Amino acid sequence: MKNNMKNEKSEVPSMQKISDVTSVISHQLKTPLAGIKSSLEILSSGDLGPLNKEQQEYVELTLGSAGKMISLVRDLLDASRIDENRFVLNPGKSDIAELVGETIKELGSFAQAKNTRITLNRAGTIPPLMIDGLKVRQVISNILYNAIRYNRGKGTIEITLENKGDHVLFSCKDSGIGISDEDKKMIFNKFYRSSRVISLAPDGTGLGLYISKAIIEGSGGTIGFKSDEGKGTTFYFTLPIQ
Ligand SMILES: Nc1ncnc2c1ncn2[C@@H]1O[C@H](COP(=O)(O)OP(=O)(O)OP(=O)(O)O)[C@@H](O)[C@H]1O
Ligand SMILES: [Mg+2]
Repeated sequence: MKNNMKNEKSEVPSMQKISDVTSVISHQLKTPLAGIKSSLEILSSGDLGPLNKEQQEYVELTLGSAGKMISLVRDLLDASRIDENRFVLNPGKSDIAELVGETIKELGSFAQAKNTRITLNRAGTIPPLMIDGLKVRQVISNILYNAIRYNRGKGTIEITLENKGDHVLFSCKDSGIGISDEDKKMIFNKFYRSSRVISLAPDGTGLGLYISKAIIEGSGGTIGFKSDEGKGTTFYFTLPIQ
C-alpha cells in the first residue's frame, strides 16, 4: 500500500506520454467506430428489414453520436500528427465552391434550429484548386460550425468566395458574440476555448482552429480573423491558384 502510493506520486505523466496515450487510444478507436457507423447505416437503410418510427429515431440518434465520436478521434489524431510533424496533406484537383456548398447544406438544419440565416456570395469564376479537398472541407466546416454555434438568436452569416487573381479568398462573417481582445491571442492554441464559449456551448475541444491553421498553412495559404466583441466575427482564409 505504502509502495503503491509512492509510485503514484513519482509517476507524473509527461506531455509526451499524454500525447502518446492520446495517439494510441485514437488509433484503437478509429476502426471500431467506423464499424459501428457502417452497421448503423445498414440498419438505417432498411436493407435488413423495415424499422418502426421509434427504432428509426434511435438508430439516427446513435448514428449522430457515432459521427461526433469519429470527428473527435479524427481531431485528436490530426493534432498529435501536427505536434509530431507527421501531418500529411494529399492534394488533388478540387472545386472549393462545391466544398462550400456541401458544407452549407450539411449544416443547414443546425443553422435553422438556431434561427440563423446563411447567405453565399461568389465573386468571379473560381478555378479548381490543388488542395486536399477533405481537409479543406474540415476547415470550412469548423469555421461555419463556430459561426452558427457562437451566434445569437436570429443571427446572420455571410459567406464570400472571391477570385483574387493568384489566390481564392474565403470569408465567413457572423453576427455572433465576438471575441475579446484577451482571447484573440489564444484562439489558435491547441485546446483553447474562451470561458464565455465554454458556458454557452460546453461540448467542444478547442482543436478546430489549431488544426485549421495547419491545414491552410500546409496548403500554401493564410488564415485569420477580425472580431468586435459583442458584434460579430469574420474568419477568412486564402488558398493559392496555381
Ligand atoms: N465565430 C466565432 N465567434 C466567437 N468565438 C469564436 C468563433 N470561432 C472561434 N471562436 C473562439 O475560438 C475558440 C477556438 O475555436 P475552435 O474551433 O478551435 O474550438 P471549439 O469550436 O471551441 O471546439 P471544436 O472546434 O474543437 O469543437 C472557441 O472556443 C471560441 O472561444
Ligand atoms: Mg470549432
